[in-house]
Amino acid sequence: HGAAKVLVASNRGPVSYEVRDDGSLHSRRGGGGVVSGLSAIGPDAGALWVCSALSDGDREAVRRGVGEDGVLMLDIPADVHADAYNGIANSVLWFVHHMLYQTPLEPVFDAEFRRRWASYEAYNRAFAEALAGQAAPGAAVLVQDYHLTLVPGMLRELRPDLRIGHFSHTPWAPPEYFRMLPDDIAEQVLRGMLGADRLGFLTRRWADAFEACCARFADGLGGTRIGVHGLGADADFLRERSHRADVTERMTALRDEIGSAPDGTPRRTIVRVDRTELSKNIVRGLLSYRQLLDDHPEWRERVVHVAFAYPSRQDLAVYRDYTAEVQRLADELNSQYGTPGWTPVVLHVKDDFARSLAAYRLADVALVNPIRDGMNLVAKEVPVVSDEGCALVLSREAGAHEELGEDAITVNPYDVVGTARALHEALSVRPEERAERSKRLAAAATALPPAQWFLDQLHALEEQPGPSA
Ligand code: G6P
Repeated sequence: HGAAKVLVASNRGPVSYEVRDDGSLHSRRGGGGVVSGLSAIGPDAGALWVCSALSDGDREAVRRGVGEDGVLMLDIPADVHADAYNGIANSVLWFVHHMLYQTPLEPVFDAEFRRRWASYEAYNRAFAEALAGQAAPGAAVLVQDYHLTLVPGMLRELRPDLRIGHFSHTPWAPPEYFRMLPDDIAEQVLRGMLGADRLGFLTRRWADAFEACCARFADGLGGTRIGVHGLGADADFLRERSHRADVTERMTALRDEIGSAPDGTPRRTIVRVDRTELSKNIVRGLLSYRQLLDDHPEWRERVVHVAFAYPSRQDLAVYRDYTAEVQRLADELNSQYGTPGWTPVVLHVKDDFARSLAAYRLADVALVNPIRDGMNLVAKEVPVVSDEGCALVLSREAGAHEELGEDAITVNPYDVVGTARALHEALSVRPEERAERSKRLAAAATALPPAQWFLDQLHALEEQPGPSA
């Protein structure tokens, strides 16, 4: 047995390495809810984060024995990792839970899929074995996401003494869609998850879908408990970070790009910030903006769509194609509608957190229109950061809608005409009303800050009698 008392397991860890030209290793720490949660329990708590080596730099760090206290990177063979991460987690499981398969994009569960599935099992087993080796007797283990659905069951067999939790950062597919997976695979996923003492979901809707799957395809939940923990935005961090000099510099540059309306007033902004991700529905967002300019020509020259779409999962062909389509459509819009003094769409694709915050501060309207989304933190962050308060156009299919729906302008993400109407409404809200609603949105968005989100789960897990107890 190891010495760690609290363990987190996830594919992407809190730190990544890069090999510099001179051969030295440079490390970079990531942010996010679990990172701040884990730091909230303090460095002496015996916490360990088990994650995958993802880049060449990460693998080199493992080989050189370089690392951070409290982080264990697993050097899973690159081909096994690629099959598990790209071939199964991000192609199959992500697509199922976001219900992205639609004709002609349908899964073909052939022999190649079975081969990749074996890699997914091996990758999950590598995590389970590492966790089993590192965990102190009775330790709490918090497994994250669809990459690691088999870990709880495997770990339970290796270490019945542990408290095991699993948290899904994605939606969960309803039974009618989940059953698309081959029966034995679907059962294996559910059995793997049900190896946990507690399962966490972002909203009631995803928890209910999981329960419905277990009722249909397993013998119910057994001794596993379910908790809903709606991760919120980190107000203190965002407010401090968004007022640093690098952000204000980028606001100046962005204001130049946006420019002024013919009457000299600053143009209005419709802001979106996403990974370039099929589920985020960026293309229909652009189509809706074009519809707005057609239906309400009075907005031409007076509004700019600031769209930050940061490339993601480019190893997958559908993501490369989608990224190209976003670019193509933005260019087309600019050449069809643009004038010498007005660029209707300001599209940026290079990931830059300070510039994202600059756009949040300048946002009059935030557009968050995913087809399906576990939560969507952008919807929660913009109202907190925006200088004047923003109007939020929000898809009813985002988990965040459960908490923010009342003060947002709700859209059906497939309805381009309806979304254009919502954008017009959002641009037309009176400033006082907009500020009021934005304040209420910010309050709801920050109700459960990341550190509390993490601690709630940890305490619930520690207090609950396990199935093996
Ligand atoms: C989703 C998943 C996360 C993942 C993130 C970025 O939000 O739930 O687990 O880290 O996407 O995706 P990536 O594949 O780059 O880790």
